Amino acid sequence: MPPYLIGIDVGTTGSKVVLVDADGAVKASVTNEYPMYTPYPAWAEQDPADWWTATIASIRQALEKAQVSAQQVAGVGLTGQMHGLVALDAQGQPLRRCIMWNDQRTAPQCATITQQLGIQNLLRWTGNPVLPGFTAPKILWVRENEPDVYRRIAKVLLPKDYVRYCLTGSFFSDVSDASGTSLFDVGQRRWSDDMLKALDIPRAWLPEVTESPAVSARINADAAKLIGLLEGTPVVGGGGDNAAANVGVGVIREGIVSVSLGTSGVVFAASDTYRVEPEGKLHAFCHAVPGMWHLMGVMLSAAGSFRWFRDALGDAELAQAAETGRDVYDILTEKAAEVAAGCEGLLFLPYLTGERTPYPDPDARGVFFGLSLRHRKPHLTRAVLEGVSYGLRDSLELMKNLGLPIQQIIALGGGARSALWRQILADVFNMGLVTVNVTEGAPYGAALLAGVGAGVYQDVATACKTVVRVSGETGVSAATSVYADYYPRYRALYAALAPEFKALAEVVARHTSGA
Ligand code: XUL
Repeated sequence: MPPYLIGIDVGTTGSKVVLVDADGAVKASVTNEYPMYTPYPAWAEQDPADWWTATIASIRQALEKAQVSAQQVAGVGLTGQMHGLVALDAQGQPLRRCIMWNDQRTAPQCATITQQLGIQNLLRWTGNPVLPGFTAPKILWVRENEPDVYRRIAKVLLPKDYVRYCLTGSFFSDVSDASGTSLFDVGQRRWSDDMLKALDIPRAWLPEVTESPAVSARINADAAKLIGLLEGTPVVGGGGDNAAANVGVGVIREGIVSVSLGTSGVVFAASDTYRVEPEGKLHAFCHAVPGMWHLMGVMLSAAGSFRWFRDALGDAELAQAAETGRDVYDILTEKAAEVAAGCEGLLFLPYLTGERTPYPDPDARGVFFGLSLRHRKPHLTRAVLEGVSYGLRDSLELMKNLGLPIQQIIALGGGARSALWRQILADVFNMGLVTVNVTEGAPYGAALLAGVGAGVYQDVATACKTVVRVSGETGVSAATSVYADYYPRYRALYAALAPEFKALAEVVARHTSGA
């Protein structure tokens, strides 16, 4: 009887379950959505009970759809949105909603931590600066703002690890997800005693941590009944969504880098050694591959910039799409493909929602620069694709400066379906790109990790070799020399505008009620 594997993604919009066979073929892929609450503009919360309800439904529906029985499932892997704070009481009940990765309320706590401990200590102890999305400043926010909740905390978990607790009754995390808490010694792959002491957070609140493919715990009797799997089915450590997604597409050797064009843009590089960008401009996290690390740059609005452009200026193309049944992005890019590289001097800065890498600046904003009478909508469209590509190159440059070799770039995400955008990326990077056969994202990688833990594959490299194939290639064109001239101009714009972004934010705040 061939073994099947399950990957569960506790994502930002829903719980996605992917069921695969040992050859990596997807037998079922099911998502059940849940709401996100934003009681104030900068807040983002979810109810952990919603994750569990959705996960139960997704597992049951996946088993049903694939016609796979509980006995055939060899293992379960977990992945999910990183950085969220789930606070439990002594009975294992959530004390409040989860404060999510995209919640920005902790800017003051981050500033205090950085001022009191110093950026060099933070980089030495955790490999990273403390950012508002990360977990530790959220714990401090609860301490300062909800003392009644704080007093009752017995356990602190990340989102996917709360679902693991529901599945197994055990408290575990994995090294890649723990890396985003600001409480983890990424170099040593264990909780940082220095950081816990400095922030006065009890070690007993934190779960045990395993490597990603290691079996952490097993499905218990209560959960088995609810989800339709066997009691005792192994659940591996799993990984944060980016680490797991990159296992799923084979970014598991130094030299391989992925560039993902989702709402946000992620540049992800596997690394054999622990490297920290001297100013902490790249995330330095443990990889979901034992003994490896990864570096990551995050652009907040990548394909999100293109979606904004469609919504703000694409009425005619949306109407045309509705009439013809064609994809609106195809209609937009078709016309943009006729514009010469460099858009005759038009540049776009993609900082519509502020930025994380290379400029951790919540006040940065989008810019069209260099408009002339000659520019029409196709120029603006192409400028958006080029601007996002320049911004992603910023992360690649930071990686190169750390001595990281870049031998292969894999293009991922919805935006990479556009041949034009792939060509622009290759030319801006001055390096060819490949695409791969895997498109299911993080839960697919989690399923492969489950396969390693369950003994279906010998190790992560064997799993990737079994299932991941190159499906397409994009070479560098003559336009690369044009982009070589424009990129420094793009780079110069942020430096020139940074003080104005801040000044503008202050004016906006003065004139916006409730900001
Ligand atoms: C990673 C990050 C996001 C979240 C949500 O640092 O903030 O990728 O994990 O997807």
